[in-house]
Amino acid sequence: MAKVLILSGAGISAESGISTFRDSGGLWDEYDVSVVCNYDSMQKHEDVTIEFYDKRRSELKSKEPNYAHKRIAELKNMYKKEIAVITQNVDNLFEKAGLKPEDVIHLHGFLTQLRCQDSYCGKVFDIGYKSQKEFNGGRCLTCNSKLRPNIVFFGEQAPMYEELNKQIQDCELFVVIGTSGNVIGVNTMAQFATRSILNNYEPSSAINDAYFSKVLYKKATEAVDEIAEEIETFLNPR
Ligand code: APR
Ligand code: ZN
Repeated sequence: MAKVLILSGAGISAESGISTFRDSGGLWDEYDVSVVCNYDSMQKHEDVTIEFYDKRRSELKSKEPNYAHKRIAELKNMYKKEIAVITQNVDNLFEKAGLKPEDVIHLHGFLTQLRCQDSYCGKVFDIGYKSQKEFNGGRCLTCNSKLRPNIVFFGEQAPMYEELNKQIQDCELFVVIGTSGNVIGVNTMAQFATRSILNNYEPSSAINDAYFSKVLYKKATEAVDEIAEEIETFLNPR
């Protein structure tokens, strides 16, 4: 398991022009999360749910990784075994910044993928930036069942959390970047690590920053060099 765990949220992609969820003007201001991101969204609101993810997927095409993605990708590529990169984000900006798919864990799914709704099949297809209906009419290539966005909705199983819980047990340096902590209890996680860094644009009511060794309330692109320096020193003690 890695010595350093970097856990990110929507805030790390904010400077790339991707809306966060709970900041003012964020996605959940614009859309009703219970309509487009709930366990029963595909049953009760199929069209508006598909439209919501089609729109976010097509917007992703023009989005570029920012300096924070690039610096973390550099670190991970240099210290493959020592650093784990886990994100709540469904965008592909770490991959666009040079991380291999196997080197970044997406806890809440991945926007360019569709998944077969038949639970026995469950096949996943990467459709790039296309709309769902442009891909085989929104039907599974294997069993012809309907497809759905490969996103973890509220109230659904999130299988990758198992990996997060494993990584947190062993990590010695825990780094949190750009998450309000409303979904993942980063306070508790910070207590497992020898040292922990919190970087957010501003304090969050869901995070008690007293649990963190270092707190940086600034943009991720402005904090990432200081974070990277601390990670490198941690991994190369003099
Ligand atoms: N640099 C660093 N942090 C930033 C920046 C920035 N440029 N801009 C915003 N932030 C911080 C905000 O201060 C806030 O704490 O990013 C955080 C964004 O919080 P949320 O919008 O709640 O996003 P996130 O924490 O990722 O949400 C978690 O909730 O809705 C679900 O599945 C969705 O993965 C998402 C999960
Ligand atoms: Zn199928």
